Amino acid sequence: MNDMYINIEFKKSGKTVRTYPGYTLLQIARANKIPILSPCGGNALCGGCRVKVIEGNDIIDVSAEEYNKLSDEQIEDNWRLSCSFIPYKDIVVDA
Ligand code: FES
Repeated sequence: MNDMYINIEFKKSGKTVRTYPGYTLLQIARANKIPILSPCGGNALCGGCRVKVIEGNDIIDVSAEEYNKLSDEQIEDNWRLSCSFIPYKDIVVDA
């Protein structure tokens, strides 16, 4: 039963959140009062919500929106766009 949950560790904030998969990283952060900038309101327009994934990132599932707003170097360096990134497994993020 526990397998349906994932753990998102927000390293800077010192919080680990247990959640169902299916929400964006920005939604998870907001729901748990973890500050992530979102200048365009989470519409994948500004790139301001980018966050680095410290552990558990899969570059293979980077979305088209993320490719639009992040540089190739950022993508290779495990940056993700919080408002487009839907984690499906345990990760640690620098937020
Ligand atoms: S909040 Fe603007 S791109 Fe995510």
